[in-house]
Amino acid sequence: MHDNIVQTSTWSTPLAPAISGVLPAARRLSVAPMLDWTDRHCRYFLRLLTRHALLYTEMVTTGALLYGKGDYLAFNEDEHPLALQLGGSEPAALAQCALMAEQRGYNEINFNVGCPSDRVQNGQFGACLMAERQRVAECIDAMRTAVSIPVTVKTRIGIDNQDSYEFLSEFIQTVAERGGCDTFIIHARKAWLSGLSPKENREIPPLDYPRVYQLKRDFPALTLVINGGIKSLDEALVHLEQVDGVMIGREAYQNPGVLAQADSRIFGGVDPFGQMSGVVLAMLPYIERELAQGTYLGHITRHMLGLFQGIPGARQWRRHLSENAHKPGADIKVVEQALAKVSGRALTADLTN
Ligand SMILES: Cc1cc2nc3c(=O)[nH]c(=O)nc-3n(C[C@H](O)[C@H](O)[C@H](O)COP(=O)(O)O)c2cc1C
Repeated sequence: MHDNIVQTSTWSTPLAPAISGVLPAARRLSVAPMLDWTDRHCRYFLRLLTRHALLYTEMVTTGALLYGKGDYLAFNEDEHPLALQLGGSEPAALAQCALMAEQRGYNEINFNVGCPSDRVQNGQFGACLMAERQRVAECIDAMRTAVSIPVTVKTRIGIDNQDSYEFLSEFIQTVAERGGCDTFIIHARKAWLSGLSPKENREIPPLDYPRVYQLKRDFPALTLVINGGIKSLDEALVHLEQVDGVMIGREAYQNPGVLAQADSRIFGGVDPFGQMSGVVLAMLPYIERELAQGTYLGHITRHMLGLFQGIPGARQWRRHLSENAHKPGADIKVVEQALAKVSGRALTADLTN
């Protein structure tokens, strides 16, 4: 049924290998950890769009890893370079989990010091740890002692009324000097630990990019990655004049086409696909393999809904997948039908524009 679709994919060589040497470069652009969003199916899909950007898992807690029943570390080899985000506050438990992740082949461990949800605060971890910089340093030190892959921190610029530049820079200094952390991802807004939902905490506190730029000037030896509200590669390139890396969250998920030119524009390489349809076609073998193992189609296609955003036919694509992917026995025909509903212009939409 795709005879009329020009497949311009250059998707014939293996994906980036799992070598730690790729990490410093990969940090120029990363996709944020997002609970319920950046699961392994999502990451596989995003990896089709960019071979070089660093991908992060959803946050996984030490409790889930040590006492849970599921395999929370599962990933596909093609996802590299890949970082596991850990949530917790006990150095020994974090060290044990970091080692498990290193043995499974993750390229980086990232420690969550930015999530403001109540559930996370009850566990005494996430953003509330910003107030306990010595403890964060101990956690990082314990993980760094246990593994040889990099251990990084993702945090905010402050919490509640502890939002001065001095508070932030003391946090960074302590965690860098006492914990040995040399890479920080900074979500450039503070978090209110009570009164705002996690969603509101991603929207209401104002973004303060200059504060992150100032950190880079004050700690030039550290690798600093900026995050929050970045919606285009043009914006990313502007930030890259000031900091070492850019992390994109919601825009990469809701409008994944934003990543399609990342390999050429951010990494100086070659983009994997010239046309939108190529990305969908490249997902089909993966979807077939997953369905054969019992994965439910909707669990994969829910991450692909935003692919044609801004292009004629995007709504039909989304609607067909949303209405049909959950039906019993739904298979790749649903994806092929959805693709067929997208207008010809969208199918051949140039990803390089
Ligand atoms: C649905 C969702 C889930 C998130 N889950 C996590 C998480 O597990 N760990 C984390 O550090 N941040 C999490 N975040 C925050 C993002 O990583 C990122 O810091 C935030 O969305 C700001 O970046 P953006 O404006 O580019 O989206 C989540 C964000 C969203 C939208």
